[in-house]
Amino acid sequence: MKNVILIGFMGCGKTTVGIRLSYRIRRVLEDTDKRIEKEQGITISEIFAQKGEAYFRDLETDLLRRLSKENYQRVISTGGGLPMREENRTLLRQIGTVVYLRIKPETVYQRLQNDTTRPLLQCEDPLGRIRELMEQRAPLYEEAAHIIVDVDDLDMEQVLERITEQIDLGGNA
Ligand code: S3P
Repeated sequence: MKNVILIGFMGCGKTTVGIRLSYRIRRVLEDTDKRIEKEQGITISEIFAQKGEAYFRDLETDLLRRLSKENYQRVISTGGGLPMREENRTLLRQIGTVVYLRIKPETVYQRLQNDTTRPLLQCEDPLGRIRELMEQRAPLYEEAAHIIVDVDDLDMEQVLERITEQIDLGGNA
């Protein structure tokens, strides 16, 4: 009966898996990046450019606090940096089953080579940046997670299977 929350690095598939999973287990989908964009009326890239990353991180925590007071039966996909704050990790674990979609830096690089929507990766050496961020973040994703799925060699259907066989839906889905 709890939320199912997807966390993981940019490009690990949280958004797509979130959409498919929400259909599969018949839950409403909440996507933190999309909700922030809707509430702010501008894109994530614009928020970073106009107000800076720290402002965006505060928006994430504010949204998470609100989600923690709302109904607990959703699929929630999160922005890749959201679990970096300790308060956020605590809240995530309180409000749901946290599923970490673990991915290797090289796979992220392949998937996001032509992407322009991730402000953190618009730099000279995206692979180096991905490796550096991953090194900082991996232990924190692992700390936040109840369930870990290694996604590099799995197709979408296999990822969904791994998740649904491990989450406890309270006999209600
Ligand atoms: C970020 C990941 C993005 C988005 C923002 C920052 C991050 O979400 O929240 O660009 O710090 O890893 P996705 O993980 O959906 O790309």
